[in-house]
Amino acid sequence: MENERTLLLIKPDSVHRGLIGRIVARYEDKGFNIAAMKLMHMTQAQAEDLYSPHVGKSFYDRTIKFMTSSPIVAIVIEGMDAINQVRSFNGATTPSEAHPGTIRGDFGQRVERNCVHGSDSKESAEREIPIFFKNEEILTYNKCLSEWV
Ligand code: RTP
Ligand code: MG
Repeated sequence: MENERTLLLIKPDSVHRGLIGRIVARYEDKGFNIAAMKLMHMTQAQAEDLYSPHVGKSFYDRTIKFMTSSPIVAIVIEGMDAINQVRSFNGATTPSEAHPGTIRGDFGQRVERNCVHGSDSKESAEREIPIFFKNEEILTYNKCLSEWV
C-alpha cells in the first residue's frame, strides 16, 4: 500500500444539509490527514474540467449545473491507500445501492444528490487535485500519533 493523495468534494447538497463536519469527522476518525481544505464556489471552468471524462453522458449537464449552483468543500485527503479508501467510505454512486456505514449509504438520497465526490484512480487524483488547489496550498505534516495510527 502506498501513501496517496486524493480529492474529496463535499457537494452542495451536503453543505446545505449541515453535513460538512460529520463527513470530515469520518476521515479524521479513520486517521487520514487533511492536506488541504477550502469552502468555495466551483466555477463553470472547474466543473467542465472535473467532469470532462463524462462529456456527452445523459447526466453531464445537470451534474455541472448542480455542482456550480452553490458552495462545495474541496479537500485533499492523504494517507495509505487513500484513493480506494475514500471511494469505499463514500459508498456506491447510487445511494440506494450504497451500504449503511458509508457516507452515501447513510446520508445520500439520489444519484444527483449523492453528497460527495472521490477521485476514482491515481491518474484521476493527479488530474483532479490541481483543478482546485495550487501546489503550495497542499500541506505535508506528520501528526504526533503517526507512528501508531
Ligand atoms: P463521483 O465522481 O461524484 O465520486 O461519483 P462516482 O465516481 O461514483 O460516479 P461517476 O460515474 O463518476 O459520476 C459522477 C457523478 O455524476 C452524477 N451521476 N448522475 N444516472 C445519473 O443520473 C447519474 N450518474 C452519475 C452523480 O452525482 C455522480 O456522482
Ligand atoms: Mg467519478
